[in-house]
Amino acid sequence: MAMKPIRKAVFPVAGLGTRFLPATKSIPKEMLTIVDRPLIQYVVEEAKAAGIEEFIFVTGRGKSAIEDHFDKAYELEQALETHNKQKVLADLKSWLPAAGSVVYTRQQEPLGLGHAVWCARRLVGDEPFAVLLPDEIVQHDVPCLKQLVEIYQQTGGNVIAVFSVPREETDRYGILDVAGDDSAALVEVRGLVEKPRPDQAPSTLSITGRYILMPEIFEHLGDHEKGAGGEIQLTDAMTKMIGRYPFHGYRFKGQRHDCGSALGFLRANIAFALQRDDLKDDLKDYIRTLSI
Ligand code: G1P
Repeated sequence: MAMKPIRKAVFPVAGLGTRFLPATKSIPKEMLTIVDRPLIQYVVEEAKAAGIEEFIFVTGRGKSAIEDHFDKAYELEQALETHNKQKVLADLKSWLPAAGSVVYTRQQEPLGLGHAVWCARRLVGDEPFAVLLPDEIVQHDVPCLKQLVEIYQQTGGNVIAVFSVPREETDRYGILDVAGDDSAALVEVRGLVEKPRPDQAPSTLSITGRYILMPEIFEHLGDHEKGAGGEIQLTDAMTKMIGRYPFHGYRFKGQRHDCGSALGFLRANIAFALQRDDLKDDLKDYIRTLSI
């Protein structure tokens, strides 16, 4: 049976970014750069590569730089034209989403990830959709969301990207309870718990910030039930769909970077710079000079 295509993606970008203060006092954390591209651009390009046609941002106050970033910059383009910087100009135009394909709505209060996704319900409508959390970036030839879409085309239903974490870190993630072998690449989800204590975690398989979800999730999110940390959790609403639809976790291929922490952010910068022909040799030389 042909599955409904995944055409829309939700990007929850309302978070305050307190872990990156003072940088995020006046700049959205999603605009912090990995080498020379803002975090949000990596994630939007990933979505585009997975076939996404509509980009739904759930923003908040102080996030207008994101809107400007995905808009045409006439004066800048004119200046680049005047100075004959054609290559820079071409790059600037290459990733700009098509006119009318980006929409914004605001999460007025920080009530949790589940609430942020719920804010997009009218924009998503009645079709399966993707959620991408810009704090996480996965480095691989096949973009992480594309990997999930390929799985979805076989399994249908909900599909989430998963990876193993050390047991002492389970309280930082949504954790899966799986039917059968939890070391398989594709696992069937039997349960989900948001941020369980290590001694209570049903496994060490955690949810990464990439989801393909059935639109019924909005009915459950609409209950506004509070979960871990007193927040409306996406994980709790997903739990209510288990048994009603196929629900799979997929161990994605690639290197995950947690760009929501200073160390993860620094690592991502180094890892992505080492992939750049114009930077890698000089960067390696520099790293070798560090007496560490
Ligand atoms: C969110 C989700 C959690 C998931 C994590 C991945 O948590 O609630 O289930 O494992 O993203 O980064 P947050 O990082 O927003 O606390």
